[in-house]
Amino acid sequence: MLSKKMQSQLEKGSPIRRAFEEGQRLGSLYGKENVFDFSIGNPEIPAPEAIRKWVRQIIGEDSRSIHGYMCDAGYEEVREKIAASLNRRFGTSFSLHNIVMSAGAAGAINVIMYALLDPGDEVILMRPYYPGYQSFILNWDAELVAVDPDPEDFQPDMEDFRRKITERTKLVIVNSPNNPTGVIYTEETIRGLTEILREKQEQYGHGIYLLSDEPYRELCYIDTYPEEELPFWTEYYENTIIVYSFSKTLSIPGERIGYFVIPDGAAGSRDLIKASRIATGMLGFVNAPSLFQKVAGACVEIKADIYDYRRNRDLLYNTLCRLGFTCVPPQGAFYIFVKTPGGDEKEFLKAAHACRILLVGGSAFGYPGYARISFCVSYDKIKRSLPAFEKLAGMMDL
Ligand SMILES: Cc1ncc(COP(=O)(O)O)c(C=O)c1O
Repeated sequence: MLSKKMQSQLEKGSPIRRAFEEGQRLGSLYGKENVFDFSIGNPEIPAPEAIRKWVRQIIGEDSRSIHGYMCDAGYEEVREKIAASLNRRFGTSFSLHNIVMSAGAAGAINVIMYALLDPGDEVILMRPYYPGYQSFILNWDAELVAVDPDPEDFQPDMEDFRRKITERTKLVIVNSPNNPTGVIYTEETIRGLTEILREKQEQYGHGIYLLSDEPYRELCYIDTYPEEELPFWTEYYENTIIVYSFSKTLSIPGERIGYFVIPDGAAGSRDLIKASRIATGMLGFVNAPSLFQKVAGACVEIKADIYDYRRNRDLLYNTLCRLGFTCVPPQGAFYIFVKTPGGDEKEFLKAAHACRILLVGGSAFGYPGYARISFCVSYDKIKRSLPAFEKLAGMMDL
């Protein structure tokens, strides 16, 4: 007999996975080239050649030093390289002790939550949010509290944020560049959020952690922040934990490799680092995948090539606007969040499906009335999909 928690998950399922599986089904019926699956953030852009080169080179080394267990936080030389790279890019002063390797961002967030959350603790998310957070919060029987955005630009509503912080708030999660909106938080937003957090810490007399989930950090298309100059949250708020993943920027999501950073300035930093290492073992990760720790260490300075994504974004966003759809311009990541014409999300998804376009409804992200288009696909697929979007616009009377 399944646990009650899992029974409810079984009934609910994952809308992203469902759409992805429907894409596979339609592909086998009508031919892959006639189905436009924009459901999942699984990069079709190939991994940089350096990844393959390093895999081959590392595999050629003595196998005992590649495939064995290591320290639960990960290989020391890899964590040293990551700390040095962050320090060079962001003027921080991390050492290897601040870095813990993880099974992607998802693994990192669960480890951190295990270390921090008691049942009933509140975790604040900014709507719309990556759906994984919802499940992760449920894992620890914590409470999800959602903050509304300004619907014009999808920056969080500061007054709503202030209202939603309570004595039980333990953790606030931010994600910029954002999945699903593609929006990048402005410096004004960062300053606003962190000022409120400081105020609330003072009011309640205990720390509130900010977790910045940054799998899309390098996928940035706006000139205000040419790549590395995206603001680094630790500079604005001491109690920040950074989560990073190589999944998206290097197109290796299946390899499950990422890391998190707990700065010395974070409340109870030493214990939190220790606890998160213990949590890595308790959750059964034991350590992050060994081969790809080494590959990540070798590739830590490799820049994601955003040319393809920028080209995809320009073509798709400009076409959608020309056809009369409403969406905020994606500034980063590889998603467009489009408003469902007429407001009925289900009807819109049904019409898109009839055009063999697979999208994920905004409800999955805690924000109904929208749909997410994931454009980490080939340029050719986007070009081929344009007549289908034109048909969809016609069906919606745009
Ligand atoms: C915002 C966000 N966080 C975390 C993840 C999980 O990524 P990973 O593959 O690194 O576990 C994703 C994946 O789509 C994401 O979009």
